[in-house]
Amino acid sequence: MLKNSIFAKIFKNRKLSNSEDLFEFTSYIPKNIIYDDWSNSLPILLKAYEKKIFVLIIGPKGTGKTTLVRKFAEIIKKPLYSINFSLRTKESHLVGTTVLENGSTRFALGIIPKSMKEGAILYLDELNAAEPDVLLRLDEALDDRREIVLKEAGETIIVKAHPDWFVIATINPLSHAGTKELPPQLLSRFPIRIHLDYPPIEIEKRIVKMYINKPIDERQLELAIILANKLREAAKVEDIYYSPSIRETIAFAKLISSGLDPRVAAEIVFANVYYQWGDVEAKKVRDLIVSLWGEWE
Ligand SMILES: Nc1ncnc2c1ncn2[C@@H]1O[C@H](COP(=O)(O)OP(=O)(O)O)[C@@H](O)[C@H]1O
Ligand SMILES: [Mg+2]
Repeated sequence: MLKNSIFAKIFKNRKLSNSEDLFEFTSYIPKNIIYDDWSNSLPILLKAYEKKIFVLIIGPKGTGKTTLVRKFAEIIKKPLYSINFSLRTKESHLVGTTVLENGSTRFALGIIPKSMKEGAILYLDELNAAEPDVLLRLDEALDDRREIVLKEAGETIIVKAHPDWFVIATINPLSHAGTKELPPQLLSRFPIRIHLDYPPIEIEKRIVKMYINKPIDERQLELAIILANKLREAAKVEDIYYSPSIRETIAFAKLISSGLDPRVAAEIVFANVYYQWGDVEAKKVRDLIVSLWGEWE
């Protein structure tokens, strides 16, 4: 195995990826996704797909953006590649990287060329949490030629997108921690924009009930959604640090449907998270709970 070890040494200098970078993206066609299209977003996505105009979904966390995209992929029966952007997302995740395998090197395609070749849906989640240099590379890949030039592969490789290739991105409002403004040229790659917000009370009730398989105390569920909406409003104007999502109202409903006292469930789901920012924050929310559910016995 001498040959291999020499090989390994030579390639060490070429900044080969370490095991952390070896992550290879896979796709799947979602099935049985529960989604209530209350905002009529699916018809817009289907039209955009027909014309292959890329879509940007804007909205706070937990308003159903990811679930909408999964439902859409299920409907059109196309594989979905997803990447959730953060400060740790690197260019190599997007375009690919040279990896060392059994002593020889191989270029592992990143999520962009992989999805392009397959004619899959590329889902760029929370795009505005990425570093600017990563976004720059993405911008290049999303231009009208629908191809990507990979110089990283040693030789120059051009990957052309299959005609079915489609891209959907999401961004969180700038009030969310860690978000940055998207550069205008990148925004312009997504000319169709869908705005998703928290639903009206009656619709949120309907959505939550889709996840519960027994009858639930409507009044208690309504109180929890009223509380969630008050907290969402407060978070919007930065009075508090956290905005509860539909995931939280679903969790509340599951707890009370399994017999937990609603006020205790409200504390667990809605109040305790604020201890992260100290007792004063949590106290504000506990007071709200008391005002909605009455004094503690
Ligand atoms: N319209 C909807 N229909 C069904 N479930 C929904 C809907 N909106 C949100 N949810 C549920 O709320 C939770 C958060 O949704 P998610 O898609 O992860 O939000 P986001 O991607 O905007 O953060 C999930 O459990 C999801 O299934
Ligand atoms: Mg999401």
